[in-house]
Amino acid sequence: MISTFNFANIPQIIFGAGKLNELYSIIPKFGNEVLFVIGGSSLHQSGKWNEITAILESKSINFSSISISSEPSPSLIDDTVARFRNKPLNLIVAIGGGSVTDAGKAISAMLTKEDSIKNYLEGVGNKIHDGKKIPYIAIPTTSGTGSEATKNAVISELGPKGFKKSLRHDNLVPNIAIVDPELMISCPPSVSAACGMDAFTQLLESYVSPKASSITDALAFSGMKYISENILLACSSGASDVNVRAGMAYGSLMSGITLANAGLGIIHGLASPIGGLFNIPHGVVCGTLLSEATKTNIEILKNQGSKGKLALMKHAQIGALLSSEYHIEEEKILDYCTSLIETLEIWTNDLKIDHLGKYGIEMKDVDKIVEKADLKNNPVNLSNENIKNIVLSRL
Ligand SMILES: [Fe+2]
Repeated sequence: MISTFNFANIPQIIFGAGKLNELYSIIPKFGNEVLFVIGGSSLHQSGKWNEITAILESKSINFSSISISSEPSPSLIDDTVARFRNKPLNLIVAIGGGSVTDAGKAISAMLTKEDSIKNYLEGVGNKIHDGKKIPYIAIPTTSGTGSEATKNAVISELGPKGFKKSLRHDNLVPNIAIVDPELMISCPPSVSAACGMDAFTQLLESYVSPKASSITDALAFSGMKYISENILLACSSGASDVNVRAGMAYGSLMSGITLANAGLGIIHGLASPIGGLFNIPHGVVCGTLLSEATKTNIEILKNQGSKGKLALMKHAQIGALLSSEYHIEEEKILDYCTSLIETLEIWTNDLKIDHLGKYGIEMKDVDKIVEKADLKNNPVNLSNENIKNIVLSRL
């Protein structure tokens, strides 16, 4: 039986090697004044930015650009918006990792407002954004957050009172996502690993979420298939293979769509407080917690009898997928769950995903993290003790 579901907006998607070239014929449809939001260095180092600007100039497109070298903070967004508010911009284009595409999304939304983004962040301000924005095109250069397909921009303020909170509205989904795996080839192994683990976490968490639907299941499952086939290669011998990068890019794109529609679980519920309190990449938090949190969820589901059967079966389906088996036998459900945990542990080790301690997180910080953790749409209810043990296991 197919249960009821709502499915949010998704961008127009332009996917494939070389598809960046379509940008130049798309821009004039929006107008001739463009603000580019780009990353700190990789586009420059690869020579790609010079290539892009030469083409823009040859087509007489007027553009400005800003560089984002860290996760976007409220002041970064406010300052950028203040700088460009009086310019007649027709389009925002962000080319970069998740921080850059989130920044572009937030800038496009806040250029229509006079006050600070803080007023509109969930759990921080008390205003609701109305969804008005300057048209926005997202072009990811990493395969991770799926931000090119989501309706929220994550904004971070670091420190003891730090937070990672979202600006969110259905209309903030990018107008167009151009996903070109050629842009991901220069992404270094450690970043590819953390981003890939984040994307897989998003797919897994949305697949086992109580809010999952037939449509998100289909997309999450196909995303997990491509990531499982390519994640180790993307960080080693296949880093320059555009087909490997395309598999990862597809998985990441699907993860953005599924998380926006089915929600996430405890790993992302921990990623918010950990990322707000400590300067640690989002992908590392998710990647490092993935196997332990999945193990904990499975252990609790096993003891829930018929109540946990569906979510346990879904974990088993992922375990079977990761073992390249597509039909699971009922009596092997627990074996496939074990195999899922083992594969995730292998990925964590082979991809050398850092422990939390490397970023200054200590035993004394764990209670504060647990206190701020959010279960989100986790498939089981976890006690504070359960959550604490997940964090401790990766300290
Ligand atoms: Fe994530």
